[in-house]
Amino acid sequence: MDRNLALEFVRVTEAAALASATWVGRGEEKTADKAAVDAMRKAFDHIRMDGTVVIGEGERDEAPMLYIGEKVGHKTEDSPKLDIALDPLEGTTICATGGPGSISVIAVAEQGKFLHAPDTYMDKIACGPGAKGHIDIDKSATENIKAVAKALGKSVSEMTVVILNRPRHEKLIAEARATGARINLIGDGDVSAAVSTGWNDTGIDLLLGIGGAPEGVISAAAMQCLGGDFQGRLKFRNDEEKARAKRMGVADLEKKFTIDELASGSVMFIATGVTDGSLLKGVRFMPGGQAKTHSIVMRSATGTIRNIEAHHVLNKKPQ
Ligand code: FBP
Repeated sequence: MDRNLALEFVRVTEAAALASATWVGRGEEKTADKAAVDAMRKAFDHIRMDGTVVIGEGERDEAPMLYIGEKVGHKTEDSPKLDIALDPLEGTTICATGGPGSISVIAVAEQGKFLHAPDTYMDKIACGPGAKGHIDIDKSATENIKAVAKALGKSVSEMTVVILNRPRHEKLIAEARATGARINLIGDGDVSAAVSTGWNDTGIDLLLGIGGAPEGVISAAAMQCLGGDFQGRLKFRNDEEKARAKRMGVADLEKKFTIDELASGSVMFIATGVTDGSLLKGVRFMPGGQAKTHSIVMRSATGTIRNIEAHHVLNKKPQ
């Protein structure tokens, strides 16, 4: 995959972050999300590619834009065929309430390299490069925490495990706390949380628990770029969700997906902060119609991670 594309894609997440950031703290989740979707959709038109959204805003009948299967990009005869997994505003509630860690994110792979995950839940486990190969979603939280601590050369009491703060995780949180590890409970945004496990200086060692399946695929792409690890298993609330998964080609509904089964080949991960978080600074609006954004761009082919701080003059942007 052309490495210059990674730098093209950052314009896409920047556009979505800038658009949704005008809605930070205004209590308008849907409007913030729509602003991000509209801006991201428009920004894709400037990229020369034959792109297909494989993880998106939902199925065609429920999402007017960036729906699964939608073609994006400026297609020419020799443009690359790419699959796109996206979340224009990951953490819509965080954005609406002005909380920490909402981001705009896309992951890109060659055709057929992402799991076409249904919009259901997924049980997830993620860790950074130091513990790669030492996690197993079939094992208990206690076993995984101990195994990761050992791999990282830490005592369990020095471990920090991040878990979405949800009633469904009551038992998981109790078990993880009983090991003596520190538990970082987050309100939303488990893509950032997964990435944090592979990111220097966040202090996060392990992600455990159930979140969105689409976010799981995006997180797996990020962990491929970081050299970390990820496993997931789909979780269904009803037969309708099971049927949807089957329609999308998932034959074994109980399957444990490894990182390579979720995202493989040459993968790119690009994210821009909307609100401040442990990974990325949020959008800063400045006097005179200017703004600053902070993004990361990562490629699995080389492992290069770029931190990009951009200064935007908003009235000079293409409409
Ligand atoms: P949205 O951006 O769609 O609001 O997702 C936020 C999020 O916290 C994800 O990071 C996470 O995977 C999922 O929601 C968890 O779902 P739920 O809020 O239903 O527990």
